[in-house]
Amino acid sequence: MRRSLKTKLFLSILLLTSIILGLVWFFNVKYLDSYYIERKKDNLVSYSNHIKNIYKGDTRKIYDELERIENLIGGNITIVASNGEIEYPISYRPQYGRMGRGFIPISKEDLKEILSGSTVIKIFKHPKFDIRILSVVTPLSSDKILIIQSSVASIEEGIDIIKDYYIYIAIISLIIGIILTFILTKIITEPILRLNKVARKMANLDFSHKYNVVSRDEIGQLGESLNYLSEKLSFTIDELNKANKKLREDIEKERRLDKMRKEFISNVSHELKTPIALIKGYAEGLKDNVIDDIESKNFYCEVIMDEAEKMSKLVKDLLDLSQLESGHYSLNKEKFNICNLVDKILNKYSPIFKEKNINVSIKKDDDKMYVNGDRVRLEQVLVNLINNALNHIGAERVLEVTIRRLSNNAIISIYNSGSFIPEDEIDRIWESFYKVDKSRARKYGGTGLGLSIVKNILKLHNSNYGVRNVKNGVEFWFELELISIDNKNY
Ligand SMILES: Nc1ncnc2c1ncn2[C@@H]1O[C@H](COP(=O)(O)OP(=O)(O)OP(=O)(O)O)[C@@H](O)[C@H]1O
Ligand SMILES: [Mg+2]
Repeated sequence: MRRSLKTKLFLSILLLTSIILGLVWFFNVKYLDSYYIERKKDNLVSYSNHIKNIYKGDTRKIYDELERIENLIGGNITIVASNGEIEYPISYRPQYGRMGRGFIPISKEDLKEILSGSTVIKIFKHPKFDIRILSVVTPLSSDKILIIQSSVASIEEGIDIIKDYYIYIAIISLIIGIILTFILTKIITEPILRLNKVARKMANLDFSHKYNVVSRDEIGQLGESLNYLSEKLSFTIDELNKANKKLREDIEKERRLDKMRKEFISNVSHELKTPIALIKGYAEGLKDNVIDDIESKNFYCEVIMDEAEKMSKLVKDLLDLSQLESGHYSLNKEKFNICNLVDKILNKYSPIFKEKNINVSIKKDDDKMYVNGDRVRLEQVLVNLINNALNHIGAERVLEVTIRRLSNNAIISIYNSGSFIPEDEIDRIWESFYKVDKSRARKYGGTGLGLSIVKNILKLHNSNYGVRNVKNGVEFWFELELISIDNKNY
């Protein structure tokens, strides 16, 4: 069974109290009696020596002193002459007898010994009263004997009292012991329990709890060390977590980059595969003279040139994209009127619109909207968006360019009638090589890089951009920040 510190402390104090009480009791009961008698003997012997010293042959001269000593020792003194006459006390009457007197059990040998100068010490029982009497018998002079007697009954009574008294002392001591235990337990175990609580929290990696140091003792120091350890651990684990997070991010980034690289290579090879195969096939056809009519030959040559053109566009777009995505491409910014640029492009496209029978319209809030941007790159944006609109124009054949002013921005949008872009793909069309309808893109020679280039150019201009499916068609839009201009020569 696991005993708590509380129980151990309690049992220890209880045991200690019991041992101390037991020892005190044992020594009192066992040795107090003999110790008392020894002390009493010494006392009586020293008084007898004192009497011998003051006795100068005449007992009468020391009556007072003898009486004083009798009172002091709570006993009596007898001086007997060798003829049997009692010299002290003077009022002695044998018929009344004083304690012990007449009952001194001195043998003849003892008497001889006494008379030869020795002191005899005896304890004997009073024959009448059942009390023990301590007697010291010593020669006072060559013909007189001094007897000093004292009862030892008082000590026996004292021991009995102590025995009873000890039961009370034991009970009181035990109660005090128990109270002390509770106080001690609280003082000692409470901080330990608090320390333990903090340590357990730390084990669960919770470093928010601290030990409240209230004392400067060993436990207080331990608490301080624990707090320090907690802080250090918390800091180190935080650092580790940060490093770990960064490492995971780096790995993830590396993985993404690797995936992008692989996808890129596979996309580029895929885009090149078809034109190369076509060029190869048609060139072989020409070489092997499988056709003789000039018309077919022209057709063969056109296919080869067309496919070569597609490859050249792909390479150009790829170069553009890698430049724009490099992170250190700088725009060639200038201040110009965006309305003029849009007009110029639409003019350039007018023969195509006519040829394709497209209903073009332009709506402008104002003719003069100045922006600070890269004119060539923004033209590339507009051309890409108009080309896309032409490639997806649908049966209605409507193309609408709008330039609106909204607070400090010009919003340019290009709408074309046609089918919607599926909502679940609409966010992906900005990715490189992403095409909603691959076979259709192949027909108009699309590689899926156009919007990716648009996105990068607009990002470099810090412009917002987007696409939405609107009524009967699709609308692409982007913003350009307007600048106030004083010089109108742009
Ligand atoms: N106006 C539009 N209407 C419908 N779908 C469009 C429109 N513009 C773009 N898309 C879709 O988004 C895809 C990506 O366009 P993006 O311009 O990047 O590539 P592309 O036009 O196919 O090829 P590229 O522009 O490189 O010649 C297109 O393949 C097409 O599926
Ligand atoms: Mg395009």
